[in-house]
Amino acid sequence: MSDSPVVRLEKDGDIGVIIVNYPPVNALGPGVSEGIIDSLNTANADPSIKAMVLIGDGRSFIAGADIRGFGTGRKRAPIGQRTYDVLDASAKPVVAAIHGFALGGGLENAMACHYRIAVPSAKVGLPEVLIGILPGGGGTQRLPRLVGAQTALEMITSGRHVPAPEAAKLGIIDEVLPDGTNLRESAVAYARKIADIRPLPRVRDKTVTAEQGVFDACRKSIARRARNQKAPYHCIAAVEAACTLPFDDGIRREAELFAELETSDEAKALRYAFFAEREVAKLPDLPTNVAPYDFEKPAVIGAGTMGGGIAMSFADFGYDVKIMDASQEGLDRGMERIRNNYATSVKRGSLAEDEMNRRLARIHLVAGYDDIANCDVVVEAVFERMDVKKPIFEKLDEVMKPGAFLFSNTSALDMDELASVTKRPEYVAGTHFFSPANVMKLLEVVRPSKASPETLMTAMAMGRRIGKISAMAGNTDGFVANRSRAPFNSEMVILLEEGCLPEQVDQVMIDFGYPMGPFAVGDLAGLDIGAEGRKRRALANPNYRKLPIADKLVEMGRFGQKTSAGWYRYEKGDRTPHPDPEVAAIIRQVAAEMNVPQKDFTPTEILQRLLFSSVNEACKILEEGKAYRASDVDVMWLHGFGFPRYRGGLMYWADGIGVKTVYAQIASWHQQYGERWAPSRLLRALAETNTPFREAKPAPFA
Ligand code: 3HC
Repeated sequence: MSDSPVVRLEKDGDIGVIIVNYPPVNALGPGVSEGIIDSLNTANADPSIKAMVLIGDGRSFIAGADIRGFGTGRKRAPIGQRTYDVLDASAKPVVAAIHGFALGGGLENAMACHYRIAVPSAKVGLPEVLIGILPGGGGTQRLPRLVGAQTALEMITSGRHVPAPEAAKLGIIDEVLPDGTNLRESAVAYARKIADIRPLPRVRDKTVTAEQGVFDACRKSIARRARNQKAPYHCIAAVEAACTLPFDDGIRREAELFAELETSDEAKALRYAFFAEREVAKLPDLPTNVAPYDFEKPAVIGAGTMGGGIAMSFADFGYDVKIMDASQEGLDRGMERIRNNYATSVKRGSLAEDEMNRRLARIHLVAGYDDIANCDVVVEAVFERMDVKKPIFEKLDEVMKPGAFLFSNTSALDMDELASVTKRPEYVAGTHFFSPANVMKLLEVVRPSKASPETLMTAMAMGRRIGKISAMAGNTDGFVANRSRAPFNSEMVILLEEGCLPEQVDQVMIDFGYPMGPFAVGDLAGLDIGAEGRKRRALANPNYRKLPIADKLVEMGRFGQKTSAGWYRYEKGDRTPHPDPEVAAIIRQVAAEMNVPQKDFTPTEILQRLLFSSVNEACKILEEGKAYRASDVDVMWLHGFGFPRYRGGLMYWADGIGVKTVYAQIASWHQQYGERWAPSRLLRALAETNTPFREAKPAPFA
């Protein structure tokens, strides 16, 4: 009836059906809002139409505003002429028919409709805070009017996706349709049913008030996670306006607050992170006619902390998973740990007890290789030593059915060497999970030279199916994440030699936005683990920069939290790190023995010493073709190391300082400290042409 490439109006008897068609997720891209407005005007002017349905084609209702348009100087329609306003002013009722996602501007449009119905699998939410802005299409004014201030605050400051049944309970959705119903047909029938009801129910006409103290309590509750950020606080201020101002004034306040955020540094960084996370899934040098294998039967070898966490990840996402270990005792201990982990989540209220039981029932302990021979994916997660892993891969090669994928959870071992013990190296790849494996989002997929495209795609897809963000890494010592992080780990100890204390370095990194300082993290992970790696590297490389202070602590049995002493001291049963004068004395003593001149450091010097060393290493990784793009390094730092998301990632942050400045500083430290600061060739080339890191062209993947 009415046609635009992205929105069309069809007639279904006396009901006008407005269909948004902007693949893949119906974001409000160019022409979409205008198309909806045109269709509404046409339908309102057509006497044969009594009511309208707003619905999305394809896999979603509307996923929100087009994020690519933000910060580009785009023109926003003035208040009064936006889709929300036109929906509000419609003389005939409009029913939003929701499937897939109604997020951000999508939910805001739905809330400006007079009725909302959804299929049970639909999800709704206002996730704007996650990209550093606030709901700017009336969401901060309408949602509190539907669900109350408290719930609106929780949804808007978390950005979480709310499943349709819960949204119905909260009052966002009027009706959830039975499973399997045809959404369009049901929406048309619903529209016919409500067509004559007047006055039209408009969310803007509802009132909302808030109990005293709600907003301050919310500010307090988000203080930790919202550190250094504006958007969460602006979200609260906008909801507060909904409770204290008339609707139109509240909308104006929302617009003012939105304008302050759209081009903020945090919004730019968060938008960058959003797209970097989508880019990382793309494997540009693999053939496009190969698809990942649709695996169904995963198995995990090794019921230790990592193996247990990996098995939980499979179970959490609906997979029946087999887990085996060298001994029954190991299996029992592993299962006990898994049970305890789930029980803690139940106690915290983040997991329902019946869901815990369903997940536990999916984890099957098996006694030996024969029991897993028929699985299509095996993740080996035993002790991190080549001589332990090799016999396991030999055995897997012998027993596993043809075509099974053999993955190793390793954080540093040579995957080519491991694959070479099998007669099917094309089916072997590394899958480096981060600890705790059931919690951490990053899965680094390590690419040995003989792995087939199908194997690599299957490993990447496996990660996504169990809730991870998969990122491809080359087979280089430490792969991409740990290799780029390694110089940071050395530099933080070298800073101590030169006059810093652990608590001083930790404070700088906490102020920067990390949840914990790197020394406190070291104590949590165990200092003995790093010492093993240093020994291995020192044997392999006579020029390896030793870290005598770290070695000394390990020699003294200070392994971290598990021995109540590491970089800090700990009280029994308490994880709070306390600065330890004994550590300070060891540091000064070793520094004196090494004859290192002592100096005072500014926070900026500390920050740059740590992060620039990693930027330089990341450039070496890119120039060697061990990663596809600088933004993949960023994704790894965000999800593997807790880098503050509102700073975009390591390389994005460095771009904020400027490639020339970074190069000049690294070159000067090269003069001062020698070889470990030698600038990478790529870094020098980027500085010469003033090309940002995120536009760097790495060597072809090797
Ligand atoms: N704008 C622009 N592009 C978007 C987009 C958006 N809002 N949402 C998704 N896309 C793009 C992705 O970049 C990706 O592109 P690519 O194929 O070129 O890489 C493609 O759509 C598919 O996205 P996903 O891979 O993420 O698809 P999924 O099915 O895994 O997830 C989703 C779907 C849950 C909708 C997820 O894409 C998402 O969370 N999108 C963002 C939702 C959002 O933040 N909405 C609020 C926007 S701000 C707003 O509305 C402001 C308003 O208040 C004024």
